[in-house]
Amino acid sequence: MELYDKLQYCKSFFEEYIASFEVRDPGHIKNFAIKKGHSYRVVEIIEYISRKLGIEEEELVLASLIALLHDIGRFPQLVKYNTFNDETSVDHAWLSVEVIKEQGLLDELDEKLAGTVYTAISLHNKFELPNKMEENHKFFSKLIRDADKIDILKVIIDYYENKNRIPNHTLTWELPVGEGISEKVAKAAINGELVSKELVKTQNDIKVMQMSWVYDLHFKPSFQLISEKRYIDKIYNTLPKRDDVIEIYRSIKIYLENQFMKQGI
Ligand SMILES: [Fe+2]
Repeated sequence: MELYDKLQYCKSFFEEYIASFEVRDPGHIKNFAIKKGHSYRVVEIIEYISRKLGIEEEELVLASLIALLHDIGRFPQLVKYNTFNDETSVDHAWLSVEVIKEQGLLDELDEKLAGTVYTAISLHNKFELPNKMEENHKFFSKLIRDADKIDILKVIIDYYENKNRIPNHTLTWELPVGEGISEKVAKAAINGELVSKELVKTQNDIKVMQMSWVYDLHFKPSFQLISEKRYIDKIYNTLPKRDDVIEIYRSIKIYLENQFMKQGI
């Protein structure tokens, strides 16, 4: 099957798959909608980045396929465990690959291409990529990691900015609001390091961790998008104006500006 036809097939499958969850578990309709919207926007973002990078049309279709399916495991995860927290349930990236295999979505696809899809999806949520990777696997893994992070930032900023929000435990991990920032979290963010989930103790820590994702973006169009959409400023505006928060904000802003001023991709 041609790659483009495969993408079209997976798009209709995706619609039907989600619809079946909505019927089965209407209590989760809101969270299904969040993940459905997220998946489609990640497709748009990955296509945007890919176009800016000037990659071949076939590679762009492969990237879209990865983006469309990267979170398909979120639906069974929510139904089975009532959470999007992988730590207390299951690795949703692994589950996405399981669903794709179980449903035979990539059957008839060239084995190498399918391998790239599986690798990129299974690594999209990991703290970092393995050192040794096949070039192609590495490229598509980086693409989905960038596109995914950019859209998650949009989703959580919309949530933080909505004054009438109904608390959504799937977005705040049921953590206490907290007053300041945990010391280790602040230190990592100021030092230009990605904040690891294990260090996060409060909702403010989550916000700092999300700001620190800038340190794990790979492509210039990604930095440009974050900058244009003012995502870092928007998260910063929801945090208390403490010295550590200001220092974190400054470090991340400087890094961001330097990245997109750089030559090349
Ligand atoms: Fe994901």
